[in-house]
Amino acid sequence: MKIAFIGGGAMGEAILSAILDNKLALPSEITVSDLADTRRQHLESQYGVAVTSDNRLAIEGADVVVLAVKPQNLEGVIAELSGQLKKDQLVLSIIAGARIDTLSHGLKHGPIVRAMPNTPARIGEGMTVWTVAEAVNSQQRQWTASILRAMGREIFVEDEKYIDMATAISGSGPAYVFLMIESLVEAALHIGLPRNIAEELVLQTAIGAAHFALKSDKSPAELREMVTSPGGTTATALQKLSEGNFGELLKQAVTAAFNRARELGS
Ligand SMILES: NC(=O)c1ccc[n+]([C@@H]2O[C@H](COP(=O)([O-])OP(=O)(O)OC[C@H]3O[C@@H](n4cnc5c(N)ncnc54)[C@H](OP(=O)(O)O)[C@@H]3O)[C@@H](O)[C@H]2O)c1
Repeated sequence: MKIAFIGGGAMGEAILSAILDNKLALPSEITVSDLADTRRQHLESQYGVAVTSDNRLAIEGADVVVLAVKPQNLEGVIAELSGQLKKDQLVLSIIAGARIDTLSHGLKHGPIVRAMPNTPARIGEGMTVWTVAEAVNSQQRQWTASILRAMGREIFVEDEKYIDMATAISGSGPAYVFLMIESLVEAALHIGLPRNIAEELVLQTAIGAAHFALKSDKSPAELREMVTSPGGTTATALQKLSEGNFGELLKQAVTAAFNRARELGS
């Protein structure tokens, strides 16, 4: 499979490295186009892929064209690539907010996949939600699924509206979890734990709780109740979180992210 990347930043590199690690393509089958000279040098020396700053050159002969520029750079990319793609080339866009309709009209192209990955993709623990335009054929769907699986888990959705919702949950979600981890470490320091111990306790607790919830046949609420004995330490802490409207605050944060994702796409 020949792959072109338009944009070789943090997410582009995560996808590139997962593709190579999983041997979905050889370095000689990959071209990355990026405006930043330092990015091009890094990607060429680290992965042995071809690099260019010419987007039109990059897409020549590619089976899959990954769009991985920031939303504010999309207009320029569309202007350059409009009408330049061959009918059988698949466009795989990870650009937040960019609707299939916008991409399809702008690029004058049918086969388009819209995917929303997240940053744990960099270590193969990503969560990607994706959808396709009608013109995407079954082989292109398989290519997409294999690329996204190389980065972690993937879920296909028929309706594009779920992509903006996923943006607010799994796309932005690592930041919510990092904030929770940071805050828990700060709280541990506050009650007197040394930083190295605090960080290890918090990170392993987060990993352990997530794995436990994944593997258990009980719901997260049941697992929470299992560690909450009346009048105990957990009950006291949860009472404080509830007084501070923890659940409601998260709901508001996610709704704001969802609205912003929709705004970006309008
Ligand atoms: N980070 C996430 O968690 C995440 C999750 C899901 C989806 N996404 C989406 O992934 C996309 C990329 O994010 P990122 O964090 O990888 O951004 P990034 O690190 O800024 O990477 C984008 C790269 O594209 C280059 N570029 C800009 N304009 C270009 C053009 N016209 N042609 C070729 N290359 C160009 C940039 O170069 P310059 O620096 O010189 O401009 C930069 O190196 C975004 O649209 C974002 O919405 C990100």
